[in-house]
Amino acid sequence: MAAKKVVFLTGAGMSAESGISTFRDSGGLWEQYPVMQVASHTGWMEDPDLVTSFYNERRRQLFDTQPCGGHRLVAELEKDYNVTVVTQNVDDLHERAGSSHVIHLHGELLKVCSSRDVENPNYWQVLDRDNWEVKPGTKAGDGSLLRPYIVFFEEAVPMIAPAAEQVSKADIFVIIGTSLNVYPAAGLINYAQPGVPIYLIDPKEVKVPYGLNVTHIMAGATEGMKRLVEILK
Ligand code: APR
Repeated sequence: MAAKKVVFLTGAGMSAESGISTFRDSGGLWEQYPVMQVASHTGWMEDPDLVTSFYNERRRQLFDTQPCGGHRLVAELEKDYNVTVVTQNVDDLHERAGSSHVIHLHGELLKVCSSRDVENPNYWQVLDRDNWEVKPGTKAGDGSLLRPYIVFFEEAVPMIAPAAEQVSKADIFVIIGTSLNVYPAAGLINYAQPGVPIYLIDPKEVKVPYGLNVTHIMAGATEGMKRLVEILK
């Protein structure tokens, strides 16, 4: 019999136990930085140097972090299930934990691209521990400014269609650590087929559409994943 398909939708809370700030909790990133200056298309057009520096800092922090127990338990489920992770996170902690099918909805911190032709892979560059800093003003291969491979606010989300397709095929759908404030990602819950069990792992209350079959595991990512593994046995 084919393994059941488990699809995860993860957000900043998934990486909180790795030491990466969430966005909207108190003390979160959007309390410390003006979101529209550092993470919107307009902000990028107005001050690309500021945006470049902001993402350099995010990258520097990423190299100080490790996947948490929650990331590892998600990866371990691949032993028994067909697992796809749809993440809003731009870190690479799911991959480092061993997850092999990860869809990044909001881009990837370790990639930079052409600002004229974001989705053209010829101009993508992959950064690493020894080469993570982008000097403001650096050009991409097509002569435009090199920009973070991040889906800024005000921009389309190219990976939303493949993500929705995965959710629509899920036998089990699990949401971890997202406040479900940002669309279109938050709307993915509506693609789960009727009757498919939906688990939500978050230490706080999260608003979900009325009438869905959602079991809230009120815990952090690692503890919540431990409980989910028990439930799925
Ligand atoms: N384990 C699980 N969840 C946690 C934990 C934890 N240890 N700590 C906090 N959380 C939960 C919070 O309760 C909250 O519901 O994580 C959620 C974080 O929500 P947000 O900060 O809004 O992050 P997210 O939903 O991922 O934001 C979506 O917004 O700014 C953009 O592009 C950015 O991808 C991001 C998007």
